[in-house]
Amino acid sequence: MSHHRLLVVDDNRDLAQGVALILRKLSDHIAVAYSAEEALELIEQRPVDVVLSDIKMPGREGTSLLDCVHERWPDTRVILFTGYGSIESSVDAMKRGAFDYLTKPFDNDELLVVTRRALKEIEDEEEIARLRAELRGTYGFHGIYSRDRRMLPLFDAIRRVAPTNTTVLICGESGTGKELIARAIHAESQRSGAPFVAFNAAAVPETLAEAELFGCKKGAYTGADRDRKGLFLEAHGGTLLMDEVSSMPAGLQGKLLRALQEREVLPLGSGSSVRIDVRVIAATNVDPRRLVREEKLRRDLYYRLSVMRINVPPLRELVENIPLLANLFLERLVPEGQPSKSLSPRALRLLISHDWPGNVRELQNVIERAALIARTNEIGPGDIVIEDDDLDWRPEGEESLAYEEAKRQAIERFQRRYVEQLMEQADGNVSAAARKAGMTRAALHRILKRLGLTSEDAALGDDENLGLPSLASDRPAQS
Ligand SMILES: Nc1ncnc2c1ncn2[C@@H]1O[C@H](COP(=O)(O)OP(=O)(O)OP(=O)(O)O)[C@@H](O)[C@H]1O
Ligand SMILES: [Mg+2]
Repeated sequence: MSHHRLLVVDDNRDLAQGVALILRKLSDHIAVAYSAEEALELIEQRPVDVVLSDIKMPGREGTSLLDCVHERWPDTRVILFTGYGSIESSVDAMKRGAFDYLTKPFDNDELLVVTRRALKEIEDEEEIARLRAELRGTYGFHGIYSRDRRMLPLFDAIRRVAPTNTTVLICGESGTGKELIARAIHAESQRSGAPFVAFNAAAVPETLAEAELFGCKKGAYTGADRDRKGLFLEAHGGTLLMDEVSSMPAGLQGKLLRALQEREVLPLGSGSSVRIDVRVIAATNVDPRRLVREEKLRRDLYYRLSVMRINVPPLRELVENIPLLANLFLERLVPEGQPSKSLSPRALRLLISHDWPGNVRELQNVIERAALIARTNEIGPGDIVIEDDDLDWRPEGEESLAYEEAKRQAIERFQRRYVEQLMEQADGNVSAAARKAGMTRAALHRILKRLGLTSEDAALGDDENLGLPSLASDRPAQS
């Protein structure tokens, strides 16, 4: 049932009321007028969405009513009733911009079909206007969408850094959009006409990775069956994304550093180096300072890469983006011309309550699966399948353990997660971490030791030696 207002106009009272009666099927808001003048008075008092009017009426005719309505209420749809056989008047009606016409005598179905179509068009327009308004609250930049203002500084950083040749280090959990951001930087830069090339350092043996990055001469190593240009040269004039820099073997990190400093590369098995003109963007899903501390990332390379650093927030911190991105991905899945799919309010609530360890990519996968499973165009909570592979938090078969053992394990998991994050925030400084957590350095140290998280340099401090009492109970309940 529509909430839209209809007005029936005919000097034939019986016919007008008959039409109004049939239209009750579509809307509760139906008015009747017996002349064009009366109709205009009614519309004046309260605008209507659809006018259905006879053409032939004493006084002002239907076509004149149409002109008048269009001039003052351009969004109102007008449907005209034309006399049988009067082709001229129907053509005239359409020319003047009537939504449609009905030739008298028309049957109920014809009347309903045409009116429904008019209402549908109005509803579609309202929906588009609503989406536009919603979109106005949305920030979009080279395919990166956000409703959260916290992404604005990030867009700003992209814009600022793009025209320069500075190396950029993008940090963010996996699936937060680091590659998307790297591509945006490339697209915003003067290099956008040249290639954007991505290299993922994870799990590539050093020799292969070196050949892939810097190129190689045929026979430079076993398996080098041809000359290779290397990604640095392929990206010439453009941008090279070094994904997961931390996974790069140490030797390769050194060579990368040299390439960045000297602006030239030495292909494997070649005697002479080649000049390069490439902007390097690096990405990591682990805090780079921690990588440096753990000696997985060379400190000098870190400084070189992080001239400009961009931090991408995880999805759980941008809750408003969950519905936005879910709908965006859903829209992209439906081919043009097919009915759109939507998420039920309960499905949306479910999405919002999840903490998305896999971030935007996980959300995208969940939506794609849901669209496949859903039997109707509305996706319900039952279609949302979130794989809980976060074993750290929900160990399988927990309920099969004795209570005390399950509790001990749960506490240890909590301690591990808590302490790891704490130490990361405190840059590995035990004293600072202990202060932050409100416990003594000794207590924290005991926990670190038991969890096997102590590093050599975190030697026992004075307070331990002084035997200060521990403020925090660090001992999990034992049976
Ligand atoms: N803000 C966003 N708006 C639209 N799409 C996004 C947004 N963020 C991420 N995506 C999409 O999510 C997916 C994952 O993004 P991307 O590959 O850039 O993440 P990543 O941080 O590089 O992940 P990983 O660490 O696993 O390499 C892509 O399909 C990307 O288009
Ligand atoms: Mg990536």
